[in-house]
Amino acid sequence: MSHNDILVAPSILTADLLSLRDDVATVEPESDLLHVDVMDGVFVPNLTFGPGVVAACKSAFDTPLDVHLMIVDPDRRALAYAQAGADFVTFHWEASAHPHRLVTQLAEAGVLVGVALNPATPTSVLEHIINVVDMVLVMTVEPGFGGQTFIDYAFSKVHAVRALADAAGRNVRIEVDGGVSRANAGKLAAAGADVLVAGSAVFNAPDRAAEVRAIREAAMAARAK
Ligand code: DX5
Ligand code: ZN
Repeated sequence: MSHNDILVAPSILTADLLSLRDDVATVEPESDLLHVDVMDGVFVPNLTFGPGVVAACKSAFDTPLDVHLMIVDPDRRALAYAQAGADFVTFHWEASAHPHRLVTQLAEAGVLVGVALNPATPTSVLEHIINVVDMVLVMTVEPGFGGQTFIDYAFSKVHAVRALADAAGRNVRIEVDGGVSRANAGKLAAAGADVLVAGSAVFNAPDRAAEVRAIREAAMAARAK
């Protein structure tokens, strides 16, 4: 998937949605994943994309799609995103009645599977599911909107998730999403994060490709220490 240990995933939420193809082209050569925020107006107040947009992105872009489902009832609705061409499908722990079954079904559908935790959800809920997921998404803002302020206690959550994964003997990816920038990428990577989502930091930067590189370099430098 990547030549890098650290994956940077620009979030298309902050792109110009009426010029999505051109906007993504400004970041795609530097990006490891494209982060697609699916919001249903119920689990979160905002409403964004459905499976049709995911399928359109799959045919338009070469970069793997990292689909973040902020929807109620993913148990019934997540498979449609695997079928639409997602490479990663991440659902929220808080929204699933039967997360183990959902992880199994998604894996059988051929995608990499992530479970997301809202900021105030304790990492202890991961005790068992950590054995079967490919990725844990630690939300570093309340989900719903781009451009929010990073919640500082997330650093210790990332650290706790890395400790859980190590204890389980699993090389689980840890993704952080919300308020991520070159300013905190190093500290996040040092805590154990290896998939960095960035929306406004990238799409509002004067040189977007350089911003993606700067985030990756900050993370890799912290890892090397
Ligand atoms: C928030 C979304 C994020 C969002 C991040 O609910 O899940 O992926 O796009 O945007 P920034 O990087 O601007 O916080
Ligand atoms: Zn997201």
